[in-house]
Amino acid sequence: MLSLHLATLVAFAVAAPSLETRQSTQLITVNPAQKYQTIDGFGFSAAFQRANLIVNLAEPKQSEVLNLLYNTTSGAGFSILRNGIGSSVDSRNDWMNTILPTCPSSPSGTFNYKWDGKDSGQLWLSQKGVEFGVKQFYANAWSAPGCMKTNGNDANGGTLCGVSGASCASGDWKQAYANYLVKYIQLYIQSGVPITHVGFLNEPDYTASYASMLSSGTQAADFIKVLRPTLDRNNLTSVGINCCEGTGWNVANQHASQIASAGALGSVYAITSHEYSSRINGPLNTRARAWQTEYSDLNGGWSTAWYSNGGAGDGFTWANTVFNGMVNSNLSAYIFWEGIQDRATNNNNNEKLILIDGQNYYVSKRLWAFAQFRIVRPEAVRVAASLSGNQIKSGAFVNKDGSIAVVAINSGTGTQTVGVKLDGGVSLTGKKIRAWYTDNSKDMGEVQVTVSSDGSTASVSVPGRAMVSFLVEG
Ligand SMILES: *[C@@H]1O[C@H](CO)[C@@H](O)[C@H](O)[C@H]1NC(C)=O
Ligand SMILES: *[C@@H]1O[C@H](CO)[C@@H](O)[C@H](O)[C@H]1NC(C)=O
Ligand SMILES: *[C@@H]1O[C@H](CO)[C@@H](O)[C@H](O)[C@H]1NC(C)=O
Repeated sequence: MLSLHLATLVAFAVAAPSLETRQSTQLITVNPAQKYQTIDGFGFSAAFQRANLIVNLAEPKQSEVLNLLYNTTSGAGFSILRNGIGSSVDSRNDWMNTILPTCPSSPSGTFNYKWDGKDSGQLWLSQKGVEFGVKQFYANAWSAPGCMKTNGNDANGGTLCGVSGASCASGDWKQAYANYLVKYIQLYIQSGVPITHVGFLNEPDYTASYASMLSSGTQAADFIKVLRPTLDRNNLTSVGINCCEGTGWNVANQHASQIASAGALGSVYAITSHEYSSRINGPLNTRARAWQTEYSDLNGGWSTAWYSNGGAGDGFTWANTVFNGMVNSNLSAYIFWEGIQDRATNNNNNEKLILIDGQNYYVSKRLWAFAQFRIVRPEAVRVAASLSGNQIKSGAFVNKDGSIAVVAINSGTGTQTVGVKLDGGVSLTGKKIRAWYTDNSKDMGEVQVTVSSDGSTASVSVPGRAMVSFLVEG
């Protein structure tokens, strides 16, 4: 009832300026001249054989799930797919198999690569991404094959033979590992998927019982100095190296400073980090781009709620998490952990956006939190957004096509009128302005935009605890 009453007031306020003032519109002023970081995009992973869940879905559900993930007008519009480069000798459990199932006994031996043309469903999912216009494919190894490591196993930690402090009787495997990654990238390119970024570590500060490899930033720099020229020699100059996928932001700061000290930062595209062991709390101390490449709620039971007391799996919590990274912490990309997962894995927790259960699927509001950011396209630049009002946070971006994307979160519990205005009072008359919001009842639902009679402000009515996105074109 209350929101209905406020909505009526809003409609009335448009016609009567004096009332508009009294109702105190929350006004976001965008200054496109004040530029910050460049955006690469938003993404998900389907590593550890999860991609097969979509491969095995019958139509029309298969297409529906692909649209939910990739479609820029009806789904989340993800623009980055993070694939796992396998290192395991077989596909037991949910492991990702390597393209080098048998390894020579020394780095000077013969490398017999074996490509199954599937890569646990990830190749197919990537090819579908290409069809939807996705242009960024991040190939990320959790570990080198076991033969190249101090512990002779791709699981249980161990370190790449040949980096500082890790010498092995079998020799220095840095060049072999670089060649291996190049081979993987070439196999994808030959299948029509342009790999744009490559990573060679995952959580190198954590020993896991599955594929894992330990590394400091200094040791990573030793390898980057071999990988960069190897990519270049193979005509892969445009493939960026990402490093190092630490478990948390504090670890990433160490990686960034050690790589810089070792003189390898110039060869790094983005310093990458997860948010498990420490959360993002401001910009990384680096000149390289920063990507958050894996995070999810690993504890809560499967939830599709937008807001249920601020739980770690709530869509609203995720809207705030992504906002904090992109607007407050200088991130160029935010990648969720698994896009899809089944019911059996990890007691059906919230580490996925979409639950695929046999031939059925269920969509969480976490996906719609990401969808609210789909108006921010790759190569957008974040710009200044200042706010007069309260309980609203806002960010603004200028897309490559010149359109302006504004995202805002209403942290209050009541409906508020949120207005967007351009710095200097630049008129919005004649521009195409659309807005969408997500809350408990709507999924990126389009709302009516009202432009004030003087053309200075475009406003919408936003329910409590909703996220709203504006797109100003023309
Ligand atoms: C995206 O969704 C819209 C609306 O459902 C549809 O018209 C369009 O064909 C979809 N795009 C692709 C690439 O499938
Ligand atoms: C090098 O890569 C570019 C695309 O990045 C391609 O057009 C070109 O044919 C490649 N050249 C060789 C020699 O492979
Ligand atoms: C933000 O990131 C960019 C690289 O994308 C970097 O050049 C800039 O220094 C960073 N700004 C801050 C405040 O850390």
